[in-house]
This record gives sequence, C-alpha cells and structure tokens, in this order.
Amino acid sequence: SIVAVIMVGGPTKGTRFRPLSLNIPKPLFPLAGQPMVHHPISACKKIPNLARIYLIGFYEEREFALYVSSISNELKVPVRYLKEDKPHGSAGGLYNFRDLIMEDDPSHIFLLNCDVCCNFPLPEMLEAHRTYGGMGTLLVIKVSAESASQFGELVADPVTKELLHYTEKPETFVSDLINCGVYIFTPEIFTAIRDVSTQREDRAQLKRISSFEALQPATRSPPTDFVRLDQDILSPLAGKKQLFTHETMDFWEQIKTPGMSLKCSGLYLAQFQFTYPHLLASGDGTKSASIIGDVYIHPSAKVHPTAKIGPNVSVSANARIGAGARLISCIILDDVEIKENAVIIHSIVGWKSSIGKWSRVQGGGDYNAKLGITILGEGVTVEDEVVLINSIVLPHKTMNVSVQEEIIL
Ligand code: GDD
Repeated sequence: SIVAVIMVGGPTKGTRFRPLSLNIPKPLFPLAGQPMVHHPISACKKIPNLARIYLIGFYEEREFALYVSSISNELKVPVRYLKEDKPHGSAGGLYNFRDLIMEDDPSHIFLLNCDVCCNFPLPEMLEAHRTYGGMGTLLVIKVSAESASQFGELVADPVTKELLHYTEKPETFVSDLINCGVYIFTPEIFTAIRDVSTQREDRAQLKRISSFEALQPATRSPPTDFVRLDQDILSPLAGKKQLFTHETMDFWEQIKTPGMSLKCSGLYLAQFQFTYPHLLASGDGTKSASIIGDVYIHPSAKVHPTAKIGPNVSVSANARIGAGARLISCIILDDVEIKENAVIIHSIVGWKSSIGKWSRVQGGGDYNAKLGITILGEGVTVEDEVVLINSIVLPHKTMNVSVQEEIIL
C-alpha cells in the first residue's frame, strides 16, 4: 500500500499570510472555493493503492476536525490529522509519527508541503521513482534565475536524473532548477532521519564531555529531534545515488502571502476546466449574472443577475453580491455583502465584511508585491463611495475615507 503525508505547519508559521491567518489556519484558507490543503488531498485520489492520508501539524486538533471528517467521507479514504506537541521541522514531524505511518506497511510514502500550488503529478512520480530505484524522488521545476533563491536550488544529472547537489535558499546562484516540496520516499527515509538525530546526540554528548562548551557557551546546536528535510536530509544525501528528480513542465507556485493565494486561486480555477468543470459557474440562463472566464460561486451565495463577475473570482458561502457590482480577480469570503455598483479588483475581502454602494476596492495586481493587492480582514466595513487602493485593512475597521498604499491598523 501507499500512504500520503501532508505537512501543514502551525500557527507560528504562515505569519506572512496575515491578516488572513488571524481567522483561519493558512492550510484551510479557500483557493478556488476549496481549502488550500484540499487541492493536494484530492490529487492523492489518483495514487494507486492509497491506504491513508495524514496531515501533520502543530495547530490545535479541533481546527482540522470538521474538514478532516468531511473529506474522509467524500474521498472514501481515511484522512487523519496528527498534532505535534511542538515543531519538529519538516522531517522531524514526519519521523515523530513513524510508527503510526508504518502501521499500513506502506511500500512508499508521499510527502507534500501544503503551501504549494501545482497539479501534483503523483502517479507520474511513482512511476519515475520505480524506474530510478533509490530512497526518494523529488518533484522539481525550472524557474527564473532571479526567483530561484527563495527555494531549494539543485543540480541533477541530465541523463540519470540523480540529485547531485542541493542547497537550501542559497545566497549566491547555484541553479534555476528548484525543489517543489513534493516527494515520494521508501520507508528508508525514517532511517535517514534517525541517523541525523543520533549524530546530533553524539555530538552534543561529546561537547558535554569535553569542557569545550563551558568556554564557548554561545554555540548551541539545534535540539536533536528538530530535523529539516531540505538542509539536514536532502543536502547530505545528494550525490549518493539515493535521491532522484522528476521535473514538471506544468504550473507550480509557492503560497506564502495573500497575494500569491489570489494568483493560485486563479490557477486552480483554470485547472477545474479539466478536473471539476461542474464547480465552475456557467452564467447560462437569463436570470443569472454575467460570468467571464473561470469563476467559482458557492451554491449558498446570492448574486444579482445584473452583476458582472470574472475572470478569476471565487465567491464563498452566504455572500451577497448586489445589482451592478463588478468583480475581477478576487476572493470574496463567507458572509460578505457587496452593495450596488461596488467594484472589487485584485482584492481579498474578509469574512462578514460589507462593501458600500459605488465604492471601489482595488489592487494593482502585482501578486508578489507587499501592497500589490488590497486585503480586507474579517468584519471590515467600507462605506458608500469610498475608494481603497493597494491597501491592507485589519479586522473590524470601518473605512469612511479613501486611502491608497496604506496599512490600516
Ligand atoms: N508539521 C510540521 N512541523 N510541518 C512543518 C514544520 C514542522 O515543524 N516545519 C515546516 N513545516 C511544513 C510547512 O507548513 C510547509 O508545508 C513545509 O513543511 C515546508 O516548510 P518550511 O520548512 O518552512 O520550508 P519552505 O516552505 O520555506 O521551503 C520548502 O519548500 C519549498 C517549496 O515550496 C523547502 O523545501 C524549499 O526547498 C522548497 O523549494
């Protein structure tokens, strides 16, 4: 059998996702109307002989309980959330639950970061991994040389695809081939992680014995049970014929900021055309709003027939969109009210917010810039005829004057 593990992190991570992560764990933030983690989970359905999916994180269990039980029923594959008592790092977190993961006696373990957006070519990776042999295969992609330093940069053998060299977020350019955060391993990965911990324990022991540490109290090594997959496992194992790479030619993005979540929502909406076309709004019929391009509208949302929506718009549960409203490239969260003739462009509108008549909430559309989109936190009120451009508004504020390039605290 095969088991899939998705690393979801915890509340101390995802700080660049504020103010949206003040309300909801980042992995549950909706992209194309589905929780972020839903996209990798539903991709796991295509894995042959999939026994179980685990989410590992250090969020409270209750935050994931509802989602995990509903998705288990929907997929007919058991999905379980496992809570770490503290962060153990991306490899340490996996190792922490090795006994449980090995209960299904898996031949392979998929390991996925929750904050990446791609089409998760998992069956193709399994196939590639079987032909390479070895302990693990990484999904990799070519990116621009300027952006590569935000990721793990690597060098692979052009013929055998072996991982020859790996450096995490290097300061000087190594390669434009980067780590996508999607892996398949054999259970030997647990031995590799254990070896790192034992080496660390030995070193710590040695330090204690030699009086060296007393002379240099400032040099403190990380706790022995904190192991990062990239620096501590991939780097040392590169060039040892144990790790291989599978390059994707399809889309791939990392989701660290609200701006990137808006971009990725659009990528997933575009993918729905091929995977779940029934989730896209059609705009057919004389009583429905005009729909342009890829749009998701939750069945409970109420949209006035004279509103014009799209492309790249996602409207969540119980939202109300008034007459003549215009929505382009935005995420409208639950219970939002958008009044008559309001315009929302390149923006995220937080839960229960209210946007007044003839008002305008707009971003420039640079998804990588800090103020490239406008973000309204939960319960923000924008009064009639107010214009907000490239701004971030924290929860529960009332905006009665127009602002541009401001962060409203
Ligand atoms: N459960 C748990 N516990 N999850 C964790 C922990 C932990 O202690 N630490 C990180 N994670 C999760 C994060 O939520 C994320 O899904 C994944 O592990 C990787 O997070 P980081 O270790 O913070 O690395 P990163 O996201 O900056 O970069 C990694 O992913 C990139 C691809 O998106 C690296 O592997 C890069 O090389 C790679 O390019």
